[in-house]
Amino acid sequence: MYFLCLLFSLSSAYQIIVSDKDGETDLCKSVSNDVKNLEQKMTTQLEQILTLLQQSKDNKGIKDVEFVKTLHEVAKGKSTNQSSLYKGKYYPAEWAVDGNTGTFSHTKGEENPYWWVDLGKLYRVKQIVVYSRKDCCGSYLKDMDVTVGPSLNNMSLCTHYKGPASTGGHFNLDCKAAMVGRYVKLSINSKRAYMQLAELKVFAYHQKL
Ligand SMILES: *[C@@H]1O[C@H](CO)[C@@H](O)[C@H](O)[C@H]1NC(C)=O
Ligand SMILES: *[C@@H]1O[C@H](CO)[C@@H](O)[C@H](O)[C@H]1NC(C)=O
Repeated sequence: MYFLCLLFSLSSAYQIIVSDKDGETDLCKSVSNDVKNLEQKMTTQLEQILTLLQQSKDNKGIKDVEFVKTLHEVAKGKSTNQSSLYKGKYYPAEWAVDGNTGTFSHTKGEENPYWWVDLGKLYRVKQIVVYSRKDCCGSYLKDMDVTVGPSLNNMSLCTHYKGPASTGGHFNLDCKAAMVGRYVKLSINSKRAYMQLAELKVFAYHQKL
């Protein structure tokens, strides 16, 4: 858009200069040549940019096809754990992958609480969908790092969730590119917070063997 506007203004300036025929013809010629050269350079650059954009789009498509057929939910019923158990009532980590958004997992109030799921094998993880509690406290989910990795001591950032979430709502966490991993972990960056999840779904591609 920027290039097109610039090109348009330059062409208009060029026409004004050309139509002003009273004297100064040499100056007019050299200016109009400069403008023409500039126009040519910009057209070439614009074409190069468009080619690059098209190439990166094509590469992305090929990469995804190599690894997979379709995106599947792969977290339900898998092994989970969390940084602690809420005191008083029992809200275990696995209740976030029990297929029921009416139950939830819940840690103690503590520094940097976290929750993770072991998907059992490597996948290319693309999207995580989080459901917050329905009865209250949705806004407790905020400032979360979402990491994915082959083991719990080798995790890389998929995305950061600023939040806050709303009670009874759900939100998507998208890794910029699908990430190879077996573990998906959420951690809240805070001196004191609760990690509580009604449900968490992981959409991933099966690795092609
Ligand atoms: C779950 O995490 C807690 C707290 O870090 C730890 O004490 C416990 O051993 C873990 N359980 C499993 C099955 O990994
Ligand atoms: C950590 O995981 C990445 C993939 O996310 C892998 O390429 C790398 O080799 C792993 N590093 C170690 C030390 O295991």
